[in-house]
Amino acid sequence: MSSKPRLFSGMQPSAESLHIGNYIGALLQWKELQSTHDAIFCIVDLHAITVAQEPAALRENTRRTAAQYIAAGIDPQVSTLFVQSHVAAHPQLAWVLNTITGFGEASRMTQFKDKAAKQGADTASVGLFAYPTLMAADILLYNAVAVPVGDDQKQHVELTRDLANRFNTRFGATFAMPEPLILKETARIYDIQNPASKMSKSAESAAGVVWLLDEPSVTAKKIKSAVTDAGREVRYDVAEKPGVSNLLTIFSVLSDRSISSLEVDYQGRGYGDFKKDLADVVVETFAPIRERTRELLDDPAELDRVLASNADRAAAIADATLANVYDRIGLLPKG
Ligand code: TRP
Repeated sequence: MSSKPRLFSGMQPSAESLHIGNYIGALLQWKELQSTHDAIFCIVDLHAITVAQEPAALRENTRRTAAQYIAAGIDPQVSTLFVQSHVAAHPQLAWVLNTITGFGEASRMTQFKDKAAKQGADTASVGLFAYPTLMAADILLYNAVAVPVGDDQKQHVELTRDLANRFNTRFGATFAMPEPLILKETARIYDIQNPASKMSKSAESAAGVVWLLDEPSVTAKKIKSAVTDAGREVRYDVAEKPGVSNLLTIFSVLSDRSISSLEVDYQGRGYGDFKKDLADVVVETFAPIRERTRELLDDPAELDRVLASNADRAAAIADATLANVYDRIGLLPKG
């Protein structure tokens, strides 16, 4: 057994390609955390179906998501990378957690309120309402102590802590207490056409989202037409120059150079040179990942085999936790 602290995080398989925001905001940090933590990464297909999905696309995007994570450096020999629906204990524990979650408590989840408001209360599903308890089950099944998430998921981790506490108090010490590991502000990437909002796969205009699997020529063109700000100075200043600052963050992270040295380098040279060089950096970073993703997707049987053996590893942990939970709450074991 590993003595490293257990880490759990999840990502939805709801797009064909990851974007540069996912890559810098999550993947790069997950890659680092693999060496300091016993890391479990879950492709949360059961969460994805809380909003309507096209079946063929969901299946395809699940494989594509796995392939991109592996291609970008999540090592399925070092970490556990698996598909949520392959481990039945997730919805099973979620059901138990539903029974100790208050209706009012679940109704206060801001993500549910936002999504339900968008869809209309009559179309929002019970599954969407129970999204946070399924997420709590994901985390608690593995007794994860570290949970890397974006700001928008912090409330769900808080709920997870409340539920773990409640269960432990009622039925005896069972679950470890998870801590959210909130990603750094410097890892937040904004839409390159609309730097006021976070880069998002559901952005209104595709021009602001840089996809990992885009053709290099498309990537370069997008970056060269990124919104920059008034003036012509390449300077990090989020209030005055949100567009340029966002590009500087991307440049700095991908080239491993400090923002200040980039500012010095591009002094007096204007935006054109800067964007052209940034386009090169992005294309060079993504090219090998794209290539490797292709190779992995060309052999779906092998990819499925990797995911299956990782799911077995996850299930060995999850099933033991679930059996303990069932025992503690007084379910009759099957004789
Ligand atoms: N809800 C998370 C998101 O949308 C994904 C997720 C599901 C997750 N289960 C999790 C994240 C468990 C961390 C831990 O980003």
